[in-house]
Amino acid sequence: MPKLKIAVIGAGSISEAHLNAYSVHPEVELTAICDLNEARAQEKAERFHAASFYTDYKALLASPEVDAVSICTWNQSHAEIAIAALAAGKHVLCEKPLCKTVEEALKVQEAVKLSGKVLQVGYVRRHGMNVQILRKFIDAGELGEIYYAKASSLRRLGNPGGWFSDSERSGGGPLIDLGVHSIDLCWYLMGKPKVKSVSGNTYRKLGNRSHIENLSYYKAADYNADKNDVEDLANALIRFENGASILFDASFTLHASKDELSIKLYGDKGGAEVEPELKIIAEKHATILNMTPQVDHPSFQFQPGFDAEISHFVDCCRGRLETICPVEDGVEMIRILTAIYESAASGQEIYL
Ligand SMILES: NC(=O)c1ccc[n+]([C@@H]2O[C@H](COP(=O)([O-])OP(=O)(O)OC[C@H]3O[C@@H](n4cnc5c(N)ncnc54)[C@H](O)[C@@H]3O)[C@@H](O)[C@H]2O)c1
Repeated sequence: MPKLKIAVIGAGSISEAHLNAYSVHPEVELTAICDLNEARAQEKAERFHAASFYTDYKALLASPEVDAVSICTWNQSHAEIAIAALAAGKHVLCEKPLCKTVEEALKVQEAVKLSGKVLQVGYVRRHGMNVQILRKFIDAGELGEIYYAKASSLRRLGNPGGWFSDSERSGGGPLIDLGVHSIDLCWYLMGKPKVKSVSGNTYRKLGNRSHIENLSYYKAADYNADKNDVEDLANALIRFENGASILFDASFTLHASKDELSIKLYGDKGGAEVEPELKIIAEKHATILNMTPQVDHPSFQFQPGFDAEISHFVDCCRGRLETICPVEDGVEMIRILTAIYESAASGQEIYL
């Protein structure tokens, strides 16, 4: 069978994880890389043995040497590039968030329908080993009805700067950047209940704190601390039509003693902690059990998560599987995130 010809658009920090995964996949040939920054595109094309490099994604999409693309660009270009790629007959793996606005999200959804091609949203955490394991327990009904989830993605220092802190290009701060992962994971594991309303707050109290010394953190490829018009903390309560709820917070910076990543689910038969480490909580014979699955990786592992995501994408492009991260799930998350921003701006609960 001929190899699947893959191109990566956007050759910054996260593209490295995509390129690493594609370059070891036996059914993939990396054919092209595109970035606005030509030297960056060329360097990655050489290092990952891709035949060509581009600075204009439209020229790349015109190439018959591309069957599928990973979109790893700034958030504001996701919708435009995804729609163009689908129209050019390419499958798409689009980094999270799907895009910036609900209007854009619906246009991408329409483009997927029209093209009949695969679009997978980059919800990499769904592919983590801890989540895959937990799904089996949830699918077997061992947590019962999950009626509450709690997720924190708190960085005490971690504003990535550059486009991340320019709302025009990113769509917002930690809510859209980190919340998209943790809210999605709770929502997915709760069985994707229908959202009823959201109530949220955003704060801009601390700035980007780029003056802090002796602590390193994730940065955009073109790190620049000059512009920062995004929130540094967001929180939200999300209510669902079935009565379930999610309580969430995320920060780029906060006077916290340490970073915190926690995702907890509570059902009427049992509970689970996905992060910081997989745990399952049950009750048996009038005794509460905290069960620690004996697995190699009880927390999300960065590169293996991307390897699993990309392996799933290749299976979907080959027609062997339906994606577990369809465009509809990207649209729903944009609805939730934009409603949280709207609630924070208006001080009102927003009904969806
Ligand atoms: N799944 C995850 O865990 C995860 C982690 C980090 C980032 N991301 C997502 O990946 C995307 C990229 O983030 P990053 O950290 O790599 O940012 P980055 O700034 O390091 O890299 C982005 C690259 O895209 C290029 N670019 C921007 N617009 C372009 C366009 N129209 N055409 C071609 N190239 C373009 C930039 O020049 C830059 O090199 C974002 O959407 C972000 O939300 C996902």
